[in-house]
Amino acid sequence: MNDAPIQIRAAVAADESAVAGLAGELAQSFPFSRARFEVSYRSLLDTEDACLLVATDGRDYLGYLLGFRHLTFFANGLVGWVEEILVSRGQRGLGTGRALMTSFEQWAAGHGCAMVALSTRRAAPFYRPVTPSGQSMSVEMTNFGPLGWMTDAAGYRYEARHPITGQPWPPIPAVLLTLWADVTEGGPGPDACLVNLYRADARMGLHQDRDERDFSHPVVSVSLGDTAIFRIGGTERRAPTRSFRLASGDVCVLGGDARLAFHGIDRVLAGSSALAPGGERINLTLRRAL
Ligand code: SIN
Ligand code: FE2
Repeated sequence: MNDAPIQIRAAVAADESAVAGLAGELAQSFPFSRARFEVSYRSLLDTEDACLLVATDGRDYLGYLLGFRHLTFFANGLVGWVEEILVSRGQRGLGTGRALMTSFEQWAAGHGCAMVALSTRRAAPFYRPVTPSGQSMSVEMTNFGPLGWMTDAAGYRYEARHPITGQPWPPIPAVLLTLWADVTEGGPGPDACLVNLYRADARMGLHQDRDERDFSHPVVSVSLGDTAIFRIGGTERRAPTRSFRLASGDVCVLGGDARLAFHGIDRVLAGSSALAPGGERINLTLRRAL
């Protein structure tokens, strides 16, 4: 790792081996095949609707993004689709994912796409939770994992099933389990992943995450889509706070002294990212509930 600025550029033939190494890190559902990779790589370089980006610091390869544009009915034409995005282990937390997403968004906009999207496999529907005092939250929620955080008149807690569909929450995507392992110092993996959806004027008041059994495990948060103004203070509600921006691709760990810090979202900067149409932000928080 060095301190040189991150460079994002279109991949060329000479990047093949480096991208193969990175793609092998991403492979989860299918075992990685170098022979099949080579065929796909060469073909992708010749595909006008494909966008293959590499991130480097001038010396090392930091990551890559493979995206496409395709025609849709729902968006009246072209949309950009992120198929794969990977930042190499040991290179994370430096803004590479954010730089790759920004470049892809620029490519998509320059190639006539109305929006950029990526898949959330096996997701359960969002619903609007109600606080124990009966107030409807402005944020919509769903969860991944054996347990999901929820709130209703009976209080804040973790439950194994979706409060509306009654179905178990879908499993936590493997890529998020890998991220947790990379940014935490060992210990058990997460058993819950809260997914918050911020549309329009949604916000989240200052609160502590304290429904988990053991506060020695961190909370790992991933931001996607529009940039949020995140506010964080101390472990007393009245302690001074400061705010900073969480942009698409940012990962934030609440651990150690910050584990019980009061935090919240003042507002979301609508339209600051093209990831979700109409100004939306998705935040994923991985937790160890039990
Ligand atoms: C949360 O505290 O649950 C969400 C924070 C965020 O949306 O970044
Ligand atoms: Fe929180």
